[in-house]
Amino acid sequence: MKELNIELKAHPYKIIIENGALKKTAEFIKDIYPKGKVFIVTDDVVEKLYLKTVMDSLNNGGYDTDYVVIPHGEESKTLKYYAYVCEELLKKDIRRSQLIIALGGGVIGDLTGFVASSLYRGIPYVGIPTSLLAQMDSSIGGKTAIDFYNRKNILGAFKQPARVIIDPETHKTLDDREFNNGMGELIKHGAIGNKGLLDSLLNKPAIDEDVIKESLSVKKRVVELDEFDTGERMSLNFGHTFGHIIELKYGYKHGEAVAIGMLMALKMGEDLGVTPKDCYPVIYKILKLYNLPTTEYDYKEYLKETMYDKKNIAGTINFILLDKLGHYVIYKLTEKEIKEKLV
Ligand SMILES: NC(=O)c1ccc[n+]([C@@H]2O[C@H](COP(=O)([O-])OP(=O)(O)OC[C@H]3O[C@@H](n4cnc5c(N)ncnc54)[C@H](O)[C@@H]3O)[C@@H](O)[C@H]2O)c1
Ligand SMILES: [Zn+2]
Repeated sequence: MKELNIELKAHPYKIIIENGALKKTAEFIKDIYPKGKVFIVTDDVVEKLYLKTVMDSLNNGGYDTDYVVIPHGEESKTLKYYAYVCEELLKKDIRRSQLIIALGGGVIGDLTGFVASSLYRGIPYVGIPTSLLAQMDSSIGGKTAIDFYNRKNILGAFKQPARVIIDPETHKTLDDREFNNGMGELIKHGAIGNKGLLDSLLNKPAIDEDVIKESLSVKKRVVELDEFDTGERMSLNFGHTFGHIIELKYGYKHGEAVAIGMLMALKMGEDLGVTPKDCYPVIYKILKLYNLPTTEYDYKEYLKETMYDKKNIAGTINFILLDKLGHYVIYKLTEKEIKEKLV
């Protein structure tokens, strides 16, 4: 078992990473919720794979359980399903002191977290992320949201979970592209904050408890420095400025687009004299080892579109670049400078 403590003043919480953790759900929540009823929210895919394991553990551990299932996919991150989940929980007579578990990928985590932030003005919830992307990214940091008014993640709240339980065995049922999706973020953490992780990824290890912990330790550090996303968290955007454009244009999965976006940011960094030339080949090699796309897109062709990025603040774009492997810098460029310097 590996553990990470997210040390936020008001809401510290623990992440537990263990093979077979789902079977021990009851044991892993006992200290924060010794007894009572637990409501699990999941989607129809994860329901078939893991709901029984989690429920059995909870029931055997003396908990009373009930659950709500919604359809899988981003289409469920909407007001309609927000209302549906709240309604079902209320029909089942959920009380303010009871516990919700979000069992599933990032969609379940974001939606359930938002429900937990607002129902009764806040109910404790535990995240059991089952996709690699959710384990690497959405399950820690406390950002919860639904999509609305044609905008992604526009209605939401900061709501830290009471605990996060990660079971690497859930990777076995992810298809290759879903797995890749999380790998993009995992490698990104190494690139911006953990050179040791990059070194180990060069040997293509299995994505086990150790690798997950090393990767999450980077996000942990960033979240602790910047709980409410006003500065440091920007670093997690490495590969995303170009990645978002590529994702929308060519239909890559998010993590795959981040892989390509990282390569584009590395080239840009080289041209600006910020990124040493030895960074690109290492990241490229790791992406290849894990079968992530490495198709070359010329960043200059997409620079113009970065100006429309939602993170563009008053005409200045913050590019996250590497100044060495495992270390990032924020490089600010105004729209005017972009036009002059690079186009
Ligand atoms: N809150 C944050 O900080 C944050 C960060 C990154 C992404 N996100 C959000 O996360 C969402 C994407 O997450 P996602 O990629 O996990 O999407 P998802 O929840 O839709 O999961 C992808 C698919 O995999 C299935 N699945 C999940 N676990 C599985 C398993 N172990 N085996 C087989 N199938 C499994 C799901 O049923 C779904 O069909 C987006 O809505 C995004 O906005 C949030
Ligand atoms: Zn991302």
